[in-house]
Amino acid sequence: MKTLLTQSTREAGALLRDGKIVAFPTDTVFGLGANATCADAVQRIFEAKGRPSDNPLIVHLQDVEQWREAAEEMTEIGKALLQAFSPGPITVVLPKSQLLPDSVTAGLPTVGIRVPACAIARAVIAASGVPIAAPSANRSGKPSATNWQAVHEDLDGRIDAILTIDSTLQGVESTVVDCTGSAPVVLRPGGISLRAIQELFPSAHAATKSIELDDKTVASPGTRYAHYQPKAAVIIFEESNTLAVQLNELKSKSSRCATCWMEGGQLSSSNEQWRLSRSYESVEGYAADFYEFLREADRAGAEFILVELAPDTGIGTALRDRQQRAAGPRS
Ligand code: TXA
Ligand code: MG
Repeated sequence: MKTLLTQSTREAGALLRDGKIVAFPTDTVFGLGANATCADAVQRIFEAKGRPSDNPLIVHLQDVEQWREAAEEMTEIGKALLQAFSPGPITVVLPKSQLLPDSVTAGLPTVGIRVPACAIARAVIAASGVPIAAPSANRSGKPSATNWQAVHEDLDGRIDAILTIDSTLQGVESTVVDCTGSAPVVLRPGGISLRAIQELFPSAHAATKSIELDDKTVASPGTRYAHYQPKAAVIIFEESNTLAVQLNELKSKSSRCATCWMEGGQLSSSNEQWRLSRSYESVEGYAADFYEFLREADRAGAEFILVELAPDTGIGTALRDRQQRAAGPRS
């Protein structure tokens, strides 16, 4: 299959409406879209990504008013969170509409909906005229794509088109919140913090790790798979002053060790670095570049990537989750 590169949001929307699968930027990471009402198109997303069929897709809308095309019912919690944080990096899980094929939600009775705070994404959805099912636009298990070139690297020849418009992305996926119960439950941390949600609903809480890791009771199915993993092995360090020790240990095994960390730590400049090392002044900058850094390390042939755990504030909380998964067990 030839993958078309286009800069036209209208063309991308028309292709989506016709059942094609098209990658486009959102406010968080690139998404791989399909017409959510078209079972064949949705099926092709799973094939192109190599995604397990039991992992549900998020449905993207041009505005909150479009929710009836995806959800059966708007809960009070869902309404309040959408009002407060949409458009933005939040996915609200609600009872699923019968209008959508079961494959969109992997057979679950619920559906995650979100309105991206990205004019390009909303123009694409509006041009399609339909709700758009879209996971992140990467091969399953790999780091997400934060520019179209990374999408191309993973999915060229496997998808119909890529919208090649550059835009500023947060670099960490949306917060997924179950809004079907008596309190909001954060299934995946993201751009909207649990603390911000607790300001509206003090009883809001995060799904426990055991829920995420237990196959039978998993709340957000995607969180149990290996995720965000480059080819190189990822090793986390928490304080810069332990880096020198770890680097020396690794150097005895391999000289091809890429490193990324936050400014302001103890990292000694006398440390002999491999050619790929990068530091960040802000946690937002770290989040925006993290997936691309992992990809760059792979391109440069790194064997190990040493990653300083982001500070546990703001978007750093979600970034830490991604960093730990990148370093987690491989499937
Ligand atoms: O920022 C984002 O959310 C990006 C952009 C493209 O919108 N999308 C994204 O999609 O990260 P994906 O497919 O890579 O991750 C979606 C996550 C998975 O962990 C999935 O299991 C969970 O959301 N999810 C989707 N629908 C769900 C549902 N009905 N109930 C529970 N979890 C759900
Ligand atoms: Mg993903």
